[in-house]
Amino acid sequence: MCADVLIVGPANVDLVVPVERRPAGGETVLGGDTAVFPGGKGANTAVAAGRLGADVALLGAVGDDSYGTLLLDSLRAAGVSTELVRTTDRPTGIAYITVTPDGENAILVSPGANSSLRPEDVDTVLDGVKVLVVSLELPVPTVEYVVAAAAAKGVRVLLNLSPVAEVSPATLAALDVLLVNEHEAAWLLDTEPGADPRRLLESGPRAAVVTLGAAGVVVVEGDGVTEVSSPKVEPVDTTGAGDAFAGALAASLAAGAGLVDAARRAVGVAAISVTRHGAQPSYPTAAELAE
Ligand code: RIB
Ligand code: NA
Repeated sequence: MCADVLIVGPANVDLVVPVERRPAGGETVLGGDTAVFPGGKGANTAVAAGRLGADVALLGAVGDDSYGTLLLDSLRAAGVSTELVRTTDRPTGIAYITVTPDGENAILVSPGANSSLRPEDVDTVLDGVKVLVVSLELPVPTVEYVVAAAAAKGVRVLLNLSPVAEVSPATLAALDVLLVNEHEAAWLLDTEPGADPRRLLESGPRAAVVTLGAAGVVVVEGDGVTEVSSPKVEPVDTTGAGDAFAGALAASLAAGAGLVDAARRAVGVAAISVTRHGAQPSYPTAAELAE
């Protein structure tokens, strides 16, 4: 098995409920109809790259249930190889998501089968991989193992540090690209949002990309800081926009683009994704992006 882009991360089914507001503890609030979408940070990233035509595989795990089938179907329809997705006896991961009228989401994840992802599975499949993307929602030791194994093989490693968690200095130092949103960046730097993003490189990654939602992204490479603005769009559901960005970035990097050009294209992909409902179903193809 060899793919240009290898994604390691969770696959979840997203159960999405529109709400006017979220319930407080002990309170009951009525929402709209539940929508069921294929999601999960790893599967989302893989589908985003696959839709753009990248040669991409997901290393992950699902349950032997209908949600697992839904995820495998979505991956395959996007051209993602599922050879490395194990079917386990735990239930498929589920994300319970509420979306408010402004498009903002709040997510509760029950990892289920994702907890049985075996990081050592990565060892035998790294030959020929150009870019590896790993995201959190996996145990930190799993993430650290994957980063170290890929870096040792000379694979370019992109870590999407979402949801933010403490990873070792050695892991940060092994990264080609650290991908964070402004809150994750602030957490890492132990400061308020808006700090000098160049400080992110002090912890070791060769480059960093900070996503700023509607304001676009900031790319930090060496001493250079490049702001990439986002096209103006009306958001209906921002779930998985960061994963769309990560997948599109990886697809362009694997095709030989520089980081800033890759980020420009990925910002366009993420902007389209927030104008449509769901995570994976909202990701554009290369043809849609060109329009
Ligand atoms: O990043 C969005 C994703 O986070 C959702 O699809 C959900 O499954 C959780 O993994
Ligand atoms: Na979306």
